Amino acid sequence: MPQAGKHTDFGFQRVPLEGKQALVDDVFHSVARRYDLMNDLMSGGLHRAWKDALVTAVNPPTKGRPGRLDDKDERSFHLLDLAGGTGDIAFRTIQAGGPGTRVTVLDINADMLAVGRARAAERGVDDAVIFVEGNAEALPFPARSCDAVTIAFGIRNVPRVETALAEAFRVLRFGGQFLCLEFSAVDVPGLDTLYDFYSFNVIPALGRAVAGDAEAYRYLVESIRRFPRPDAFAEMMRRAGFARVSYQRMTGGIVAMHSGWRL
Ligand SMILES: C[S@@+](CC[C@H](N)C(=O)[O-])C[C@H]1O[C@@H](n2cnc3c(N)ncnc32)[C@H](O)[C@@H]1O
Repeated sequence: MPQAGKHTDFGFQRVPLEGKQALVDDVFHSVARRYDLMNDLMSGGLHRAWKDALVTAVNPPTKGRPGRLDDKDERSFHLLDLAGGTGDIAFRTIQAGGPGTRVTVLDINADMLAVGRARAAERGVDDAVIFVEGNAEALPFPARSCDAVTIAFGIRNVPRVETALAEAFRVLRFGGQFLCLEFSAVDVPGLDTLYDFYSFNVIPALGRAVAGDAEAYRYLVESIRRFPRPDAFAEMMRRAGFARVSYQRMTGGIVAMHSGWRL
């Protein structure tokens, strides 16, 4: 992903680096209300399995965690979910973890967060998750304040990926894990053709019918094609300081889950 120079990709368009965030924000303002429904429709529910795999890897402790005591004098585990949108990763983590599990959902888009807050209230978990409006490139949190940091289908939207990786590394405690779920490149012959057809024809049509915005979903498809291959992204993670960097492709390469540690 080109970050040197003053231009970057917004889907298949080249745009000034400074202008990308506003374009991305327009996409998610437009689709926020229908975002969760669209995820189920576009992926046939598969995004749930990918997110479950991420939370399994986060592995929030189900009982007290060795180490930190929170201000209520309880053992706590604090996950920061970057670009956390409507809260899917947060809700799964709280469900999987013990009573000391806390999640901060950070997202730059107030409309996505509003949907997330309403869902948290419906689920009765609003004491365990907080929603913070902020930029993944400049986190409003102290160094080494999180036990784990995740980002699901968010990193390709962030204009300065290296800056966001450096910030994730900064706020992670020593021994903490960073996990990133992102769309990748399909590497199964036959499936790739089918996937391309589905992506460029069916998804924008679904976006128009369900969310009233074909362009937003065209951006989604194009941005996936522009995101670095898993090897290149793993190298970016290493450059940000992460150790024991690895990744795992899922569903024929539609998605890759990246992992790295602050050691
Ligand atoms: C495809 S959604 C993913 C939402 C959620 N993580 C999920 O998996 O359902 C991408 C999210 O990234 C957020 N985003 C884009 N740029 C961001 C930035 N610079 N900092 C924080 N969040 C950002 C968008 O507002 C949007 O909510």
